Amino acid sequence: MAPRSRDAAGLQGTVGTRGSVECLALTAPGLGPLLREELWERAGAEQVGRVENDGRSDVVPFSIPAGRSLPRLRLAEEVLAQVGWARGELPLPCLVARLWDDARFLRTLTALPSRRRGRSHTFRVVTRLTSERRFLRTQFRDRLVGAILRSRPRWRQADPARFELWALQTGRATYRLGLRLDEGPGARPVERPGALRPALAAALVRLAGRPGRPLLDPCCGSGTVVGEALAVGLKAIGADRSWDGIWAARLNLPARTCLVAADATHLPFPRHALGAVVTNLPFGRRYRVAGEHAAWLARAFAEFLRVVEPGGRIVLLHPHSSAFELGVLSEHRGRLRWRRPVALLGLPATIWVFDTPGPLDRG
Ligand SMILES: C[S@@+](CC[C@H](N)C(=O)[O-])C[C@H]1O[C@@H](n2cnc3c(N)ncnc32)[C@H](O)[C@@H]1O
Repeated sequence: MAPRSRDAAGLQGTVGTRGSVECLALTAPGLGPLLREELWERAGAEQVGRVENDGRSDVVPFSIPAGRSLPRLRLAEEVLAQVGWARGELPLPCLVARLWDDARFLRTLTALPSRRRGRSHTFRVVTRLTSERRFLRTQFRDRLVGAILRSRPRWRQADPARFELWALQTGRATYRLGLRLDEGPGARPVERPGALRPALAAALVRLAGRPGRPLLDPCCGSGTVVGEALAVGLKAIGADRSWDGIWAARLNLPARTCLVAADATHLPFPRHALGAVVTNLPFGRRYRVAGEHAAWLARAFAEFLRVVEPGGRIVLLHPHSSAFELGVLSEHRGRLRWRRPVALLGLPATIWVFDTPGPLDRG
């Protein structure tokens, strides 16, 4: 990672005072390091802190120059402007006083590129604690609501609200309060059971690098991976054995997207025609594969190696199971370049990145 990185402790709640806005980006657990890279590369961040975790999400503090518009971060599920920060085992009233300061809240609003319009004075407080050892989450929320109403007596609580304030415990004794800015991607025309979270799909695409030839998702379902690849300017193709998947992808993706009905173990592409295979493989009860799982994985992986060009990548999302050990790792461990555990619908899974044999490899 770039040496410009600075400890998150240095990114405090000093919004707008040095001509910068401090923000928090939230993503699925395990994706924080990739989100940091995106913040450096695409958001024009001045500083990016270390990855923290609030028990449900990885949280990455960062700062951008005041007034700068943030591009849509593909790997973030939420973006907040930080309005307060505290560290230490403080009594609850002191902690709340550190987090909520009306003048600082106003400075945050002023520093944001687009001011929130609308006259309604509604707000909502969301709290996440990694431990209720010192106080309960509801006590934390009620104290914050009380502090806000003392400085803003005309405000009232509502859901949805004009201002959503998220108070997160992101370390053993680290707390951050942020104003929610980005509600993430809106709903797609068709949602299909088992669809990937877009941030996870964006992470898989990122790990494929920037192949010149098309990227293929051979088990594309509703098209989340293909959509993320197209969004960052890559050529992408989707395939699925099920017509139901192809139909969902057709409705979710731009009209001219190439989609084919095919089995992942018999792909209708010539040898080395593609730059990368990136996919969320079927596993579990919802999408069963024909026959024994390890044997299916072995056949599918051999097919991916056939269609991807030398020096390309195969990026898979699949739990680290005995079937995966037997079907893929036993033969291809040497090609494994990177792996990272992630949470998929609360269940453990792993992202696996394999290199395909380069022009000088034998065998
Ligand atoms: C976990 S889902 C993929 C979800 C997808 N990433 C999305 O966001 O909607 C797995 C997909 O694999 C497909 N599938 C199952 N067996 C297959 C096979 N032999 N060849 C191709 N696709 C297959 C299923 O139809 C399903 O759409």
